[in-house]
Amino acid sequence: MDLTRLPKPFFVLAPMDDVTDTVFRQIIADTAPPDVYFTEFVNVDGLRSPGRQRLLPKLQFSQKERPIIAQIWGKNPENYYKTILDIKKMGFDGVDINMGCPDKTIVKNGCCSALIANRGLTGEIMSASREAAGDDFPLSVKTRLGLKEVDMTWPEYLLSFKLNMLSIHGRTQKQMSKVPANWELIGEIRKMRDSLSPATRIVGNGDVKSRKQGKELAETYKLDGIMIGRGVFDDPFVFAPESPWQTLAPDQKISLYTKQVELFAKTWPNGERKLHTLNKFCKIYVNGFDGAKELRENLMNAKSTHELLSLLTHRNAA
Ligand SMILES: Cc1cc2nc3c(=O)[nH]c(=O)nc-3n(C[C@H](O)[C@H](O)[C@H](O)COP(=O)(O)O)c2cc1C
Repeated sequence: MDLTRLPKPFFVLAPMDDVTDTVFRQIIADTAPPDVYFTEFVNVDGLRSPGRQRLLPKLQFSQKERPIIAQIWGKNPENYYKTILDIKKMGFDGVDINMGCPDKTIVKNGCCSALIANRGLTGEIMSASREAAGDDFPLSVKTRLGLKEVDMTWPEYLLSFKLNMLSIHGRTQKQMSKVPANWELIGEIRKMRDSLSPATRIVGNGDVKSRKQGKELAETYKLDGIMIGRGVFDDPFVFAPESPWQTLAPDQKISLYTKQVELFAKTWPNGERKLHTLNKFCKIYVNGFDGAKELRENLMNAKSTHELLSLLTHRNAA
């Protein structure tokens, strides 16, 4: 993928674990597609262990979800090297390294956002990754503004690796998702990029709820791209120039969920993906009518896709 050929600004569907699998990405591709998709994060050390088979569904994708970047995380530089060679063979359009996740267990193990405080290991991971990626396969990082405090030496350090893309979630590790994202600082990192690594595409991320808002932020801070995550929970058409979501009738929203559950059943026939991962979606699609709360409760207690589909069909036939 040639990142310079993407629209300006380009819109990216954020990686969200247990949310943005191939099924949901296909739903988004059919409603209002972004310009770039990310997979959920996948652990490189797990991929080189007997647990590999269990993780591979996270790397499944269809041709509809292009261009698609595989997001990886982990500790061992050699496992990054081997995994990136695999990812290239699988046909991905790029690879991204997660250096932003603030999850306590992960951080305790020295991975993801913990790397912000470990420049030595970050350097080793970056060299192994670039060696495997080569010059032509896009290599990017998604990260935060710092650990407990904002630390602008961190993006400066990352830019020394001549990344193809750097996505910044405008909060520190400590802030989790508790305060508004700081777009001013994302803008400062873009300025830093102009002098240190002009070819690196800068993507801003945090609290964007519509394409219009994203476009305005990209213009204000002169960013190359905008990444949207939780915005899809409020509006699956979030990448559309004019979203029809607010005007859809409850039955139309339920039909979209039915489509997602049918695709889930077809894609994961042998329990490759836990049924409860669908629960997060109920609130998106099932609301705004008498009995919505009860239906949501029944859906969340369902034990199979068959049961889910029968509840949804029953409601739409009523
Ligand atoms: C349920 C959930 C799962 C997430 N999983 C990942 C992940 O696998 N990799 C990653 O880089 N960020 C992950 N994130 C963070 C998002 O990609 C994004 O940076 C964050 O939600 C802020 O953007 P938003 O306000 O547009 O949602 C996750 C966020 C949520 C809510």
